[in-house]
Amino acid sequence: MSKPAGAGRSWAVGVVLATIVGWWPMTVSANGYEQLVGHGGPVKGAAVSGDGRYALTASFDYTLGLWDLDSGDQVHWLDAHEAAANTAAFLPDGRRAISGGDDFDLVLWDLETGGALQRLEGHKGKVLSVAVSPDGALAASASWDGSAGLWSLETGELLTLFAGHVAGVNDVAFSPDGALLYTASTDGSLRSWRLSDGELIRIEASHGFGINLVTVDPAGAWIAYGSTDGVVRILSTKTGEELAQLTGDRRPILGLALSPDAKTLAFGDGEGFITIVATKDWRIVRDFRAAARGPIWSLAFADNDSLIASGLDDYAAIWPVGFEGDPLFAEDARRFLVDPDEVSNGERQFARKCSVCHTLEPDGKRRAGPTLFGVFGRKAGALHGYNYSEALLGATITWSPETLDKLFDIGPDYYTPGSKMPMQRIVDPADRQDLIEFLRAATAKPQQ
Ligand code: HEC
Repeated sequence: MSKPAGAGRSWAVGVVLATIVGWWPMTVSANGYEQLVGHGGPVKGAAVSGDGRYALTASFDYTLGLWDLDSGDQVHWLDAHEAAANTAAFLPDGRRAISGGDDFDLVLWDLETGGALQRLEGHKGKVLSVAVSPDGALAASASWDGSAGLWSLETGELLTLFAGHVAGVNDVAFSPDGALLYTASTDGSLRSWRLSDGELIRIEASHGFGINLVTVDPAGAWIAYGSTDGVVRILSTKTGEELAQLTGDRRPILGLALSPDAKTLAFGDGEGFITIVATKDWRIVRDFRAAARGPIWSLAFADNDSLIASGLDDYAAIWPVGFEGDPLFAEDARRFLVDPDEVSNGERQFARKCSVCHTLEPDGKRRAGPTLFGVFGRKAGALHGYNYSEALLGATITWSPETLDKLFDIGPDYYTPGSKMPMQRIVDPADRQDLIEFLRAATAKPQQ
């Protein structure tokens, strides 16, 4: 895939200039942080290679970005998921990576070419997290189907499905010796499983609220887990005793990361704060607001002193652990948070229900779906350069007010079965009418 205009890691100053020139789509503050720019939707997960050289970002726009952290270049767009990409992990060789998405699948990637090597199928729900075993032979996945999967990275085969949680599994982590898998679930439990025979070893913790994230000390002394009650708890792996409770009284915990030297733990929450903790005494050393509003979706350490974080915006940012400054994320009005008094119902429908995945401009920016510019009169699946599903490529529909109305009356899953567009209907005929009216004007090609 070619590199879209404007992709790359850029200094804020450059972006400010570009905004003035007018071709750059974003607003930024003038702090000295760097940004990973190019996604067309929020970044839901990030990972950094073992040598600290590369980062992966998994986005709502269905793709993953591979970034060279030394040169700042955007290296590849990894495009094979058929819904939002949620999570990624590098293999120890640094040449391959694995990701998981809302399409229920894992994809194994060749990072040199940016191509998909294999699709790992078997889950019946979204895949929220993936982890790679210390020796690089196995991958684990956490799914909202209530199970965790164990996969061979040699053959792509599903080796074990750990079943027992009674709600979605949100996160997985291998023990440093590669003998155990930890799973964190919405059912409120944190469990450990033996990899050799798939048996449940212990329920490590059990609560009346969901557990979102788990991270393991590389020396094997403790496990940290973050929950919907806004607390990160530290458990001793030897005694099972709770060593610390860390909280900024903001819920839920949505990002949790450990620095490569294991000296610093960072967590992010639903209110946009990032909290930095020293693991030697479990003291909170810093706590700052990173997003003006909305959550911190993901956190990963780029090195011992800097973090990759993401919020509601379409980019991830790299900043020092000792960050001091104004919130970076969500400073601008989000496109789907338009003021209801200022726009027509049709425009509001588009902003809320379509704009995260579709632009209306001829040079459509990276989004999950194709640009809708010039859509009326266009055959389905006909926009050059967009990676359509077989379902749309094979469809005989031509887009018109009538076919679009039908698409959202009965829903894409019935009108274009197998399409990558998510299930959704617009039930009120007047809302469909207003939306189509708005689209007719907004997607029209200028008169020649
Ligand atoms: C979560 C992402 C997402 C949302 C939200 C979404 N779409 Fe889509 N849309 C897609 C994807 C992905 C495709 C390509 C489908 C495929 O290849 O199967 C698509 C395809 C389409 C197509 C066919 C385009 C073509 O070139 O054939 C139309 C028309 C369309 N969407 C309209 C809309 C409208 C109108 C809305 C809002 C009511 C909407 N979509 C909301 C992701 C989305």
